Amino acid sequence: MRRIGLIGGTGSAVLRPETARRLEPATTPWGDPSGALHSWRQGCCEVLFLPRHGEPAGIAPHLVNYRANVWTLREQGVEAVLGINAVGGITPRAVPGTLLLPDQLIDYTWGREPSFCDGTVLPLRHVEFDPPFDGALRSELVAAARIAGIDLPTVATYGVTQGPRLETAAEIDRLAADGCDLVGMTAMPEAALAREAGLRYALCAAVVNRAAGRLPPGGSIHGEMAGYLAAAMSHVARLLDAFCAA
Ligand code: HPA
Repeated sequence: MRRIGLIGGTGSAVLRPETARRLEPATTPWGDPSGALHSWRQGCCEVLFLPRHGEPAGIAPHLVNYRANVWTLREQGVEAVLGINAVGGITPRAVPGTLLLPDQLIDYTWGREPSFCDGTVLPLRHVEFDPPFDGALRSELVAAARIAGIDLPTVATYGVTQGPRLETAAEIDRLAADGCDLVGMTAMPEAALAREAGLRYALCAAVVNRAAGRLPPGGSIHGEMAGYLAAAMSHVARLLDAFCAA
């Protein structure tokens, strides 16, 4: 049976069935992960779910221990990791309530622990990070989306901001000028750490709002999040079902 890791962001607790088994949290050389792993059988997979922001969710994006999270999944012997990330939409490619499978990212974060291999605990290594997401895993997700009847655009650039505050309209204009289609706070350093750890990693972005400066007059980011989040997570649940059935 395939063992896959699922790192769930905002709103993704709904993906975990009631019957999931809680594994005792184990510490790592990098400290403690965000919370206990939960495991369940889905189709042909054993899914190991880790809530990125803890449970109840409360760990800010810049304070997530990404190294411990990726390490603990590696220790569990997962063959691939899927990140589920709520994002804001910048360009028309990123339609609220839908999913995207980004193929690129730009990292605007700072002050996070970005590496296992920085010459302190493990020897210095400069891993190749382009493309940043695993091609074979992305193809499997595209096939699953086709079976589930879900639209899953595969060309999109994810701009990773520091948070936890949301952006200004000018910051979003700058991201757009840089080529970003969507904005979120958690893809990095998670994706790069997965690469260093030798784990196949892809990220499914759930568009839960229009980004700052892209809202209709009088609109607010929080005002539109709940409805779009629910819609997007129901697509993620169907995507996961189809992915695990294969
Ligand atoms: N900006 C940054 N991160 C986010 C957003 C946003 O608009 N929506 C969800 N995560």
